[in-house]
Amino acid sequence: MSTATAPAVAGPAVPQPYRVVSRRADTVDTVTVELAHDAGPLPAFAPGQFAMLTAYGIGEVPISLSGLPGPGDDRARRLTHTLRAVGAVTRALHAAAPGTVIGVRGPFGTGWDVASAAGQDIVIVAGGIGLAPLRPVLQAVLSDRSRFGNVVLLVGARTPADLLYPDELLRWGTAGVQVGITVDRPADGWSGHVGVVPGLLPLARFDPARSVAFVCGPEVMMRFTARALLDRGLPAARVRVSLERSMRCGAGWCGHCQLGPLLVCRDGPVVDYTVAGPLLTVREL
Ligand SMILES: Cc1cc2nc3c(=O)[nH]c(=O)nc-3n(C[C@H](O)[C@H](O)[C@H](O)COP(=O)(O)OP(=O)(O)OC[C@H]3O[C@@H](n4cnc5c(N)ncnc54)[C@H](O)[C@@H]3O)c2cc1C
Ligand code: FES
Repeated sequence: MSTATAPAVAGPAVPQPYRVVSRRADTVDTVTVELAHDAGPLPAFAPGQFAMLTAYGIGEVPISLSGLPGPGDDRARRLTHTLRAVGAVTRALHAAAPGTVIGVRGPFGTGWDVASAAGQDIVIVAGGIGLAPLRPVLQAVLSDRSRFGNVVLLVGARTPADLLYPDELLRWGTAGVQVGITVDRPADGWSGHVGVVPGLLPLARFDPARSVAFVCGPEVMMRFTARALLDRGLPAARVRVSLERSMRCGAGWCGHCQLGPLLVCRDGPVVDYTVAGPLLTVREL
């Protein structure tokens, strides 16, 4: 049986071996995995930060943290990631069965800084796999519910079968979160919304004068969502988005993830829209 023991000397450039301890298929191309190693405490990841995950012999990709442990939860000793198979590395990670050893570096990048939104209404807008990095935001808010105002979660997916975490969407709704769901292409029996996710914003109850928005999804979706939030009266400084660029080092050394003046792995991925807005409107960057 393979074991996953951290090397005695490790740094941000050295992947540490972790074992896949659980694997849940979320959709046809997406899984949530929990990773653990046998030596020492886990590194402390904040919501919004990412790890570089290595499929040994194939390559390494950035993948965000997608879950926080509950109080007293054994998962405090595990890292949770949700990943969609799109290419060679993510396909290999997607296929990794429990017991498989994969490499982990991190945490890297900026987080959502949920604590700084205390006292505000929370507006979370996710497109597709973008719900994965936002799930820890919801978990953090709900674990400290009295510190926040209204909580809105708007989710867009390609089809009903592509919706992530359907059981949790129901639970969050029961817990008082305003959950809105829309799909691009309805299936038979779908009676919910059809269309793009910013189209759900007019239905959401929140006070733009005291709200913070957290947005993650394809760039075009983030642009339209941010524009709709600004039209509703949210200042750009209180709209946070998570940027995505191809990465190599993950630690600000190689320049591979440059976006205008930013190194996304170091200065992002989470930035506010005063920073992201001008960059996302320039297509060539
Ligand atoms: C900070 C950060 C956090 C991320 N977090 C997550 C996460 O939590 N879960 C997750 O599944 N992914 C996440 N990603 C995206 C993930 O890193 C990429 O999907 C991965 O690098 C693709 O590598 P690959 O070798 O599998 O595919 P590649 O060979 O690099 O790409 C294969 C094909 O898929 C296309 N492609 C690449 N990336 C994407 C994408 N994101 N969506 C659609 N098509 C794509 C490419 O253009 C190419 O055509 C994150 C990316 C960043 C920068
Ligand atoms: S990936 Fe190397 S600088 Fe960002």
